[in-house]
Amino acid sequence: MDQNELKKAVGRAAVAYVKPGEILGVGTGSTVDCFIDALKESGIDVPACVSSSVRSTAKLEAYGYKVVDLNEVEKIGVYVDGADEIDASFAMIKGGGGALTREKIVAMVSDRFVCIADESKKVDVLGKFPLPIEVIPMATQAVAREVERLGGRPVLRDFVTDNGNNILDVHGWAMQDACAWEEKLNQIVGVVTVGLFARRGADVLLLGTSEGVKTFERE
Ligand code: 5RP
Repeated sequence: MDQNELKKAVGRAAVAYVKPGEILGVGTGSTVDCFIDALKESGIDVPACVSSSVRSTAKLEAYGYKVVDLNEVEKIGVYVDGADEIDASFAMIKGGGGALTREKIVAMVSDRFVCIADESKKVDVLGKFPLPIEVIPMATQAVAREVERLGGRPVLRDFVTDNGNNILDVHGWAMQDACAWEEKLNQIVGVVTVGLFARRGADVLLLGTSEGVKTFERE
C-alpha cells in the first residue's frame, strides 16, 4: 500500500473516535485532509469544529461544517491530528505543515488526542525530521544563534505562519528526553512554539501499516 492509501486508512479509522453531538478538534496536514474526507462521508453529526489552521478551516467549511473560535468553547472531547514523527512514549514532532502553534493550543484543551499517522512516522528517537520552531520575526536570528549554541542547525523556512511568524527547521538533534528538550527550547525568548509535543503527547495512535491500521493507547 502506498503512503497515501495508509493516510486514507487511518483517516477512516479515526472517525470511530468522533463522538456524535460533540465539538471536534481538527488538526492540519494531508493525513487530516483524509480524515476530514472520511468524516464527511460518515455523516456523523458534528455540531461544530475547532480548527488548527486556515487550511483545515477552509476544507471543513467547504464541506459545510461550522468552525468556531476556541474562545467560544470550554472544552473539546476529541482532537484528531497527524504527526511528522512519534516515539514510543507518544511524544511527537509536529509542524511540518507550519500549524504547530494552533495545533498545540487545541491539543492542550482537548481531553483526548488521537494521532493519525502512516508507519513511516514511527521512530525510536525524535529528531531525524527537522524540528520546527515558530519564532517572532524580529527574533529570528537571535533564536537561530541560540539554537546553534545548543548544537542544532537552523534553516529558515520560506513560509509565514497563520500567526504572521517565521519558522526555523532545526536539523541535527536526537531528542531522547523530549519533555526536557521541549522545556529547554520553550525558554528561549522569541520562541512562540516548539514543534515538540511531549508534555502533551498523543493519547491514541492509529498507525497505518501494510498489515492494516494498528491501534496503540497510552497506558
Ligand atoms: C502540521 C502538522 C502535521 O500534522 C504534520 O506535518 C503531518 O502532516 P502530514 O499528515 O501531511 O504528513 O503538524 O503542522
